Amino acid sequence: MKLPRHIAMISIGLLSGIGMDASAGDSHDFATEIHAFRQISEGRQTFRYATFGDEEFWGDVLGLHLAIAGAANGGVGPGVSPRTALAVGLKVDSEALPKRVQRALRAGALNLDDPAVTLDLLRLNAVVGVTGFFDDANRLRSVGIQCALCHSVVDDSFAPGIGQRRDGWANRDLNVGAIIGLAPRLEPVAQLLGVDVATVRAVLASWGPGKFDAELFLDGKAFRPDGRSAATLIPPAFGLAGVNLHTWTGWGSVTHWNAFVANLEMHGKGTFYDPRLDDATKFPIAAREGFGHITATEDQITPALGALHLYQLALAAPRPPRGSYNANAAARGKTLFNGKAECSTCHVPPIFTEPGYNMHTPEEIGIDSFQADRAPDGRYRTAPLKGLWTHTRGGFYHDGRFATLGDVIAHYDGTFGLGLSAGEKRDLAEYLKSL
Ligand code: HEC
Ligand code: HEC
Repeated sequence: MKLPRHIAMISIGLLSGIGMDASAGDSHDFATEIHAFRQISEGRQTFRYATFGDEEFWGDVLGLHLAIAGAANGGVGPGVSPRTALAVGLKVDSEALPKRVQRALRAGALNLDDPAVTLDLLRLNAVVGVTGFFDDANRLRSVGIQCALCHSVVDDSFAPGIGQRRDGWANRDLNVGAIIGLAPRLEPVAQLLGVDVATVRAVLASWGPGKFDAELFLDGKAFRPDGRSAATLIPPAFGLAGVNLHTWTGWGSVTHWNAFVANLEMHGKGTFYDPRLDDATKFPIAAREGFGHITATEDQITPALGALHLYQLALAAPRPPRGSYNANAAARGKTLFNGKAECSTCHVPPIFTEPGYNMHTPEEIGIDSFQADRAPDGRYRTAPLKGLWTHTRGGFYHDGRFATLGDVIAHYDGTFGLGLSAGEKRDLAEYLKSL
């Protein structure tokens, strides 16, 4: 049952308002529920709005805010108009827009080609996953990013790219490389990677929509042996409860990865410990820079990890819309999935990954080892399949090598010699669309 949002919010408000202390509650069970409620709402705040101090990197060091503002607003270059922002996949939270802005938007009275309007949206905290910091003269002085940048979309209820937030959905429209590539000062990144700025720009341009390379700053590998980009698809951050290891290559638990990302990718201020990064053969850059041993004087990340973890585990995979798959075919596909096609030997329902150690060698799934070799275990993690329908853009498997579900099934059919008929493959695809 879905608890209407306002009722949930009122409950949290009332319960927090009367100052009930979870540890001193007269009912242990009740106290646990209040604690969970509060943690989830705190985790949501973090997921959506916490920059962990990363504006020091994206703004102060790289100067991304200058490119967003544009020369006309105290920055550099043409600036980023709302139209450009939407075109690179950034999303606008319609609930953050006051009625007057909503009216102007509907009436076509907002100039979507004016970067000053983007600044207004940032002042309203309406750009999903991006926070603008303004000085006393109301000029953009820095910019920071959040988890929601890559792991939230909106429902497009207002207009394409504008609507209510859907936390946990992978933003496969987002061109992270194009956005970072706007930054006027990429020298620090070039220095870290030991290349020139032109190379950094070429690498960022090679990613394309829906992709990011979380291992680039560890090993400096920007391209695969076949010359294609080494970036991986942004996965969803929902449906993860019960799943042991996370990321495409199973780096660790949700909270391991949260600490990893907040420190090493977002460049927030915190503490991170992972001595596996001292392996100078596998991770030459990380080992040299001591990325497995990060400390901050003012740790803004560690105190947020608990609630952030619980929030992600609370994000259920959304159900597919009615009519988006053929129910009869899906029912036949389910029987195949759990039988002849052997899918459930790894994708164990209802979590659709192995309870326990959910990792496989590249040979076991019949693909190359490039990406697996960029992670500590040299393996791929069995991807949990719920909500697949939300991230069909960009393809399937870590690098999107299979454009359609049909292609994925054909791969397994060949690799495992399943002998599936054309009709059986179609039924299996309908089942995957129903998850
Ligand atoms: C710039 C885009 C970006 C940002 C910002 C980002 N992530 Fe991710 N996230 C990714 C990518 C790409 C992966 C896959 C990494 C891999 O497998 O190497 C990923 C993986 C994950 C996973 C693993 C999902 C699974 O299927 O196991 C979780 C959980 C996650 N991110 C949560 C977060 C949280 C929480 C934050 C904020 C602290 C965050 N991410 C910030 C891009 C991003
Ligand atoms: C030996 C274990 C194993 C078996 C058997 C298996 N899978 Fe997978 N599956 C994996 C792994 C590991 C991945 C992640 C691959 C990657 O990261 O590139 C995956 C990924 C997928 C994906 C892509 C998910 C995404 O988010 O892109 C789909 C879809 C999928 N499997 C469906 C199936 C179907 C259908 C079957 C049965 C025909 C099947 N799998 C059998 C281990 C398995």
